Amino acid sequence: MSFNTSPSNAAEYAWEKDDVFGRIASRYDLLCDMFSCGIHRLWKRRVAQRIASEPWNTLIDGATGTGDIILRLLPILSAQGRTMIAADISPKMLAIAERRLDRFAETVKLCQLDAENMSSIADNSVDAYSLSLVLKICDRQRVLREALRILKPGGRLIVLEASNIRIGLLHRAYLRYMSICMPALGWLATGGDASAYRYLLQGIRDFPTAEALATEMTQLGFTEVAFERLSLGIVAIHSARKPAA
Ligand SMILES: C[S@@+](CC[C@H](N)C(=O)[O-])C[C@H]1O[C@@H](n2cnc3c(N)ncnc32)[C@H](O)[C@@H]1O
Repeated sequence: MSFNTSPSNAAEYAWEKDDVFGRIASRYDLLCDMFSCGIHRLWKRRVAQRIASEPWNTLIDGATGTGDIILRLLPILSAQGRTMIAADISPKMLAIAERRLDRFAETVKLCQLDAENMSSIADNSVDAYSLSLVLKICDRQRVLREALRILKPGGRLIVLEASNIRIGLLHRAYLRYMSICMPALGWLATGGDASAYRYLLQGIRDFPTAEALATEMTQLGFTEVAFERLSLGIVAIHSARKPAA
């Protein structure tokens, strides 16, 4: 199935060709604070609340990065009887997640997984699947199809991603601000690694609107697709359900 919206990989990023997250892993948390002025912490807290409000026993946090979502989730729910997997494609990001999640080692498993092809995860095996700030740097249709495959019927998908401010003038001003600040801050924080912020900028600019992403999810076969804009729409949290059997 194809869509007449933005390309399926908004940032045209492929981890096989450029291990940018491996290179910036040790500075990733600092970069997140710098690029979002710390606001990503509120977005991720909201994602964790949304996950905690769902009934589930098995959760995968895909593209977990340094484990931020799981770290915010653990204090607000009882881990008893639950299986949590923090997965990412980058061994260096996973190494940091492992260190940060060390005290929860009995509860959280770490796993190297490509969100576009999770062949080691069985069909219909996961109650909840979360993805934060990764859909714009992946082939999102492949990622969403994989989500649909691994989720149990009735299972929940929760996605945090860049979105669109509905007031056009404000959105353009935001993109302008990002196109000036990101290169400057990114260059300083990464010691001159241009690709790190180039992907993110392109991904933010070319990612579909919240409405268009919701339509894509529905066309792929998800039900109960809904979204919540945060920070005027700079990001949105989409939630969707795999249809019950
Ligand atoms: C912008 S970071 C987001 C990390 C974390 N979810 C957060 O919100 O802080 C993107 C992450 O996606 C991972 N990633 C990129 N492509 C991936 C893929 N195909 N499968 C799994 N992880 C991927 C990167 O290694 C990186 O850790």
